[in-house]
Amino acid sequence: ACGKKEEAAPVAAPAAQAPANAEPLKVGFVYVSPIGDGGWTYQHELGRKAVQEKFGDKIETSFVESVAEGPDSERVMRDMAAQGSKLIFATSFGYQEYVQKVAPELPAVNFQHATGYKQAANSATYDAKTFEGAYMAGIVAGGMTKTKTIGVVASVPIPEVVRNINSFVLGAQSVDPSIKAKVVWVNSWFSPPQEAEAATSLINGGVDVMYQNTNSPAVLKTAEERGVYAFGKDGDMSAYAPKAHLGSAVIDWAPYYTKVVQDALDGKVENGQNFWWGVKEGAMDLVKISDEVPQEIKDKVAQVRQGLKDGTFQIWKGPIKDNTGKELLADGQVADMPFITSIKFYVNGIEGNVPG
Ligand code: GUN
Repeated sequence: ACGKKEEAAPVAAPAAQAPANAEPLKVGFVYVSPIGDGGWTYQHELGRKAVQEKFGDKIETSFVESVAEGPDSERVMRDMAAQGSKLIFATSFGYQEYVQKVAPELPAVNFQHATGYKQAANSATYDAKTFEGAYMAGIVAGGMTKTKTIGVVASVPIPEVVRNINSFVLGAQSVDPSIKAKVVWVNSWFSPPQEAEAATSLINGGVDVMYQNTNSPAVLKTAEERGVYAFGKDGDMSAYAPKAHLGSAVIDWAPYYTKVVQDALDGKVENGQNFWWGVKEGAMDLVKISDEVPQEIKDKVAQVRQGLKDGTFQIWKGPIKDNTGKELLADGQVADMPFITSIKFYVNGIEGNVPG
């Protein structure tokens, strides 16, 4: 915007003449919340550390945290590229338009966008099957709720989040079909005070087990104060609420980050596609299930985990009805990808409507 042209940058020696791997591959990570959030970003940061550790001096990683999902993200990505990053992980949904804008202008850089759906010649998207963790947490919630009313503190109304809410509730209803659910949206990924307020209103409304799709342990901490239950999400949040914590639906980004960094070192990054890894690929699990959870419920979680691993269990399989009673998947019908990636309804038993 200042009108200065990017020019006169020193020209690197042609690759053919340079000794192999003389320079470390620079890899940048853009984070939406602080690395200390205990959840989403903390977990990406563990993934960054894992690849730095694994590849040693072959790579040089960097990160910028608390980057808003707006023009700041574009500036951060351009700066990373100007500093020599050849691989950039943009780790929040709202970076999508900025990755789309920047990638064609920087063809020598490979972009990786977490949770988006738009790819290009030098960009790919990737995600974790967070709904698998939500479903396993739901089973535990179904085994623990006494009020038969569970709740979710929801973040940003995109299909991923609606799918997670529904999957949590379907898991609970697999234990007790009469279970009802309430949702409060905070319209942010990371806003601990609002997350806590939303949790309080759920509890005041009779909810005794909560899940969240936000990034902080605020919901768990509120549960601890109020004597109800909740889950960790994305990271292991057990330490934040020893009594309230029923389990954490944890994402492990390290397997995917290891794959992509290896591909980049080999000069063969797989652009133009989406990678969606879950329990099967070791990217998702429900960990640290509380001792208070009955053994039969733990066994049910173990069965589902095994079924997700070997492909014999499908979460999104009919009969599934929305909360107006409309049948969306007939008995035995398995959802296809277009269905799964565009979920905009609440399943039977959830109060209210999806915003938007
Ligand atoms: N940014 C921060 N947290 C999240 C999340 O859970 N999902 C997506 N898509 N983006 C995020």
